[in-house]
Amino acid sequence: MPSAIDPKRCNRPLLIGHRGYPARFPENTLAGFEGAIRAGCDMVELDVTLTRDRRLVVIHDDTLERTTNGKGRVRAHTLAEIRRLDAGSWFDARFAGQRVPELWKVMALTAGRCRVNIEIKTSAFDAHDPSDAVERQVVRLVKTSGAMDRVIISSFDRRILERIAAMDAPPPIAFISDQPADPNLLHQLLALKAFSWHPKFTVLTRDQVDRMHASGLKVFPWTINTAEEAQKTLALEVDGLICNELELLQAH
Ligand code: G3P
Ligand code: MG
Repeated sequence: MPSAIDPKRCNRPLLIGHRGYPARFPENTLAGFEGAIRAGCDMVELDVTLTRDRRLVVIHDDTLERTTNGKGRVRAHTLAEIRRLDAGSWFDARFAGQRVPELWKVMALTAGRCRVNIEIKTSAFDAHDPSDAVERQVVRLVKTSGAMDRVIISSFDRRILERIAAMDAPPPIAFISDQPADPNLLHQLLALKAFSWHPKFTVLTRDQVDRMHASGLKVFPWTINTAEEAQKTLALEVDGLICNELELLQAH
């Protein structure tokens, strides 16, 4: 059965907002995800990690300094502490008061409006595999929020993807890489029953895209910043673009 995230249902490559709409809104905030939806994206990409009290929060870095007014590691703070931080002012004073969102809030905001690519950060991986391991919490939330048909769970960390692949009826998963496809990659993706491969666009070739497609895998490269990059990458016949600026595809 085709997945609802299958680009064939859109008749064009998917437009995916990287961390929301970071060219115009503070990344990984509800304002950014709302802005991405209003700009017409098909899917938003976001980054998930754990707080000290093991709650799922949406933030890219391991540390708070770059995108909030907090200090230190995300992992060293409780959810209550992180909720108090300002995650918008660093970008523009107009966004003062934006918070680091919990993942469930983004799932609620996007419900019925767009798909979500949930990237699980290696910083949240727990070798002991507790019942509240990051990937278990994410999959539980996806299932309880009825979002199985509009989500991809992605990671640079194969251990996280292996854990999800071993679950009963897992959501679609994707491996992210910043390296060209090595000879083992396709084999590993097939072993994971992955839905897609998310390569850095600068290392991608048409041959790699063709080989992925021949094995039934989709290809969603990141992170496209300019119209020229978008055109060159679309010429490789990819299934979508993970973009910082969402007006790049208007001409297509
Ligand atoms: O999902 C692709 C992309 O987000 C991976 O890199 O560092 O922006 O999370 P990063
Ligand atoms: Mg990411």
